[in-house]
Amino acid sequence: MVASIVASLATSLLASSVSHSRPYSSLFFTKLRSSSGFRFSFAVAPLSSRRARFMAHTIARATLGLTQPANLEHPKISFAAKEIDVAEWKGDILAVGVTEKDMAKDENSKFQNSILKKIDGLLGGLLAEASSEEDFTGKAGQSTVLRLPGLGTKRVGLIGLGQSVSSPAAFRSLGEAVAAAAKTAQASSVAVVLASSESLSNDSKLNTASAIASGTVLGIYEDNRYKSESKKPLLIKSVDILGLGTGPELEKKLKYAEDVSSAIIFGRELVNSPANVLTPAALAAEASKIASSYSDVITANILTEEQCKELKMGSYLGVAAASANPPHFIHLCYKPPSGPIKAKLALVGKGLTFDSGGYNIKTGPGCSIEIMKTDMGGSAAVLGAAKALGQIKPPGVEVHFIVASCENMISGTGMRPGDIITAANGKTIEVNNTDAEGRLTLADALIYACNQGVDKVIDLATLTGACIVALGPSIAGVFTPSDDLAKEVFEASQTSGEKFWRMPLEESYWESMKSGVADMVNTGGRQGGAITAALFLKQFVDEKVQWMHIDLAGPVWNDKKRVATGFGISTLVEWVLKNSS
Ligand code: BES
Ligand code: MN
Ligand code: ZN
Repeated sequence: MVASIVASLATSLLASSVSHSRPYSSLFFTKLRSSSGFRFSFAVAPLSSRRARFMAHTIARATLGLTQPANLEHPKISFAAKEIDVAEWKGDILAVGVTEKDMAKDENSKFQNSILKKIDGLLGGLLAEASSEEDFTGKAGQSTVLRLPGLGTKRVGLIGLGQSVSSPAAFRSLGEAVAAAAKTAQASSVAVVLASSESLSNDSKLNTASAIASGTVLGIYEDNRYKSESKKPLLIKSVDILGLGTGPELEKKLKYAEDVSSAIIFGRELVNSPANVLTPAALAAEASKIASSYSDVITANILTEEQCKELKMGSYLGVAAASANPPHFIHLCYKPPSGPIKAKLALVGKGLTFDSGGYNIKTGPGCSIEIMKTDMGGSAAVLGAAKALGQIKPPGVEVHFIVASCENMISGTGMRPGDIITAANGKTIEVNNTDAEGRLTLADALIYACNQGVDKVIDLATLTGACIVALGPSIAGVFTPSDDLAKEVFEASQTSGEKFWRMPLEESYWESMKSGVADMVNTGGRQGGAITAALFLKQFVDEKVQWMHIDLAGPVWNDKKRVATGFGISTLVEWVLKNSS
């Protein structure tokens, strides 16, 4: 997907640099643009080659470092729910999800669990023997793949689920472990079965099957677009889910898992893309592409810098002012194919394609400047949700997807510490720290969202390092005055398996955000930094609108694997579906 960024980028840069002036950009950058090959070739070359030259010029500028992501095909994995006996299944790996309880043996050292007993019986006791030699006890995170003769399957995998069968998150991990085993064994056909699934209700069977399916797809996926040599092609073609039922309801659930998983992959690719490739223009081009792929339900409106100026978005444009890459304000709107609309929602995402800190430049160990391409993780969640919803097409709900995208850079045209800027609602902000830029872009985006006449707004932002300090790398902070909205989102997260924790909007902390000369400053002290950031955002939300802020600075990025997670997408989609009819 991002592979075609370059092509669409060229067109969108072409449009933006020709059609609007840049009041916030320096003369230097304006000059740079107008001294392109375009002028030189104007009189002599025919239109087609003139255009080609201009495009080449813009591409070269846009793809600093000459990087172009490869357009890699991902193998399509087919999922099927089957009710066949494990002994009958033929293929490369039969993976069995096993709890510690399932591993219990009787006085003759034989499995008591019926599925394990059956496999062990067919192998003349080899499974019991091999699993105890491998010290496999069913603990969460344990897995072992055994090459055993005498079965229709080449290998049997045992994958630990922990003490007892539990959450969607555990089944997603099961899927990921299946993916890892399939990669190692170069398997092309895999089956997954739970050692004990009898106790599951019909509903939890559906959710379990879909969690296993999405875990497998996401576990198989590797982002190799920026590697010059991609690894061996993946062979996996089919995954059979055994013992969790069959039929149209389950098929529908698996299709849903597939739609959400490809949206998560899309979101991961956006966040993994470096800032020299994924500029605000490229992000906007990706958003436009979603609208054209799902044109029956999604429309796009990309506002230029000039249009944002007309809307008086001084807070957002202040942040954008230092960058050579112009800002792009993205607004997608989802409307169902037919029927009445019962709820109007907005999802607002922070879309800083890079955050240098500005004049308050990020310095020192731990400042994480080298991963600040991830500062558009909120917008990746929002656009990922748009893509999934364009595919799912839920009835009864209208959804606005809003991203005020720009870069936080340093130049003579940039915002200085101490500058006073004015948001679209007229409120003035003394910028006492240029590195607290996300909230400045979100201020204008939230005002714009509330003007769409929505009932509920959720914003998602990699907003503060303080939130990572508070909750660690894998839990997002949730801030909302609305208990009802909190309940809705927490229920959605029960199904998605993503982790959220509600934080207080402590009004007395607003004291530290007061300015002597403007309505507010943009940064309080070090203490309670995630809370004061949320209180700042609250100043720009209409009181009649239910609002939630999600700080996902930690969970957007997997520090161990050094890749994006796609965090937020599955919860947002679940939440929108809850609001649909
Ligand atoms: N994008 C950062 C927050 C961030 C930090 C995300 C580390 C991921 C990892 C944000 O714009 C920022 O710089 N916040 C400052 C706020 C401070 C100046 C009040 C921070 O957290 O240090
Ligand atoms: Mn910052
Ligand atoms: Zn930032």
